[in-house]
Amino acid sequence: MRTQIAIIGSGPSGLLLGQLLTEAGIDNVILDRVGKDYILGRVRAGVLEEGTVGLLDEARSAFRLHAEGLPHDGFSLAFDGRDHRIDLYELTGGKRVTVYGQTEVTRDLMITREASGALTVYDAANATPHDFDSSSPYVTYEKDGVTHRIDCDFIAGCDGFHGASRKAVPEKVIRTFEKVYPFGWLGLLADVAPVNHELIYANHPRGFALCSMRSATRSRYYIQCSLDEKVEDWSDDRFWDELRRRLPTHHAQALKTAPSFEKSIAPLRSFVAEPMRFDRLFLVGDAAHIVPPTGAKGLNLAASDVHYLFEGLREFYDARSSAGIDAYSQKALARVWKAVRFSWWMTTMMHRFPDTGDFDQKIQEAELDYLTHSRAASTALAENYVGLPF
Ligand code: FAD
Ligand code: DHB
Repeated sequence: MRTQIAIIGSGPSGLLLGQLLTEAGIDNVILDRVGKDYILGRVRAGVLEEGTVGLLDEARSAFRLHAEGLPHDGFSLAFDGRDHRIDLYELTGGKRVTVYGQTEVTRDLMITREASGALTVYDAANATPHDFDSSSPYVTYEKDGVTHRIDCDFIAGCDGFHGASRKAVPEKVIRTFEKVYPFGWLGLLADVAPVNHELIYANHPRGFALCSMRSATRSRYYIQCSLDEKVEDWSDDRFWDELRRRLPTHHAQALKTAPSFEKSIAPLRSFVAEPMRFDRLFLVGDAAHIVPPTGAKGLNLAASDVHYLFEGLREFYDARSSAGIDAYSQKALARVWKAVRFSWWMTTMMHRFPDTGDFDQKIQEAELDYLTHSRAASTALAENYVGLPF
């Protein structure tokens, strides 16, 4: 088989890139090692920047998002028994975010792709990029016991943190930067009205908590937990009790509960691989970088990578210029590092670390007090939260 762009990975970055390429008349094939239902069973991101929504519009996959997504003009920071609203809209001169689950983004992109007739191969085992330092790269994979080969012009590694693309790059040409945090997030989904109409990020001496949502009737809550916790040890009641303890009293009293239908623990990590291009192989999204979820940047960064790569590839095919793809790594990384910094900062300010003592707790509360009362500091937070331009 031959295609112009072989895309490894059918998460948000692979599907969005595939759809933009298809819209531009550039042929592409997507491979994923798992099946559609498995991909749609993963519960992850919930907050989309305007730039991400714009790209989904460009990919003609945002109809349901506009009908069902929740525009949010602000969020709250809770600490020391109180909470303060950050007015994103006012502080950024009219920008907001949209609350719409990654599962739904993925479903919408899959539907558009199926309607376009572009090929996605699910359950493709051992996908491997080959000869990307030559002018004739190709990808091999196995399906139903048969090895297949896809010849292509370029390979897009959209296969997440544990994918095969980054691993295929020789160690001597890649540099990685990593910080692993000594805690995780225990997340829960339940069909019950959210405690607040906007998100609440809470700092508490018992640990961080986040109140988010998927709709007016579906809540998504997270609590910081230690890495050796087991989901099975967290009954719904234990989760709700712990969440209540970490929220200001008026929210704790207003919290409505219902049986959960999803509960999982996510580890927290900051990671960047440099560069993001190796001749004819590009790393995109979580394959190249990971941010801790505090600040909601991972999926949005995947989308900005896709933007830079898509524009570069379009220029390559339309104008026979490699200027865009040559600039991909540098442009993407400049934005990535700013989001890595923001996510690290939010994580550090909001969580309890193993060595956090009374002094450190007071410092976090003083920083939050300053942040919520200084217009300059609130503006910097808001500007980063709604997403830096790309
Ligand atoms: P992935 O979603 O990981 O997709 C990679 C795909 O590649 C997968 O389908 C996988 O099956 C496939 N694959 C892997 N290996 C192979 C292989 N060898 N061969 C073929 N296919 C392969 N981000 C935000 O912007 N906002 C948020 O609010 C937010 N909240 C989050 C909350 C949680 C709890 C978590 C865990 C993450 C959150 N994120 C958030 C981050 C966001 O989910 C990720 O950044 C996003 O999924 C990255 O998309 P991706 O397509 O690059 O990678
Ligand atoms: C969600 C996840 C985040 O990491 C975040 O910062 C905000 C919301 C969510 O899953 O809803």
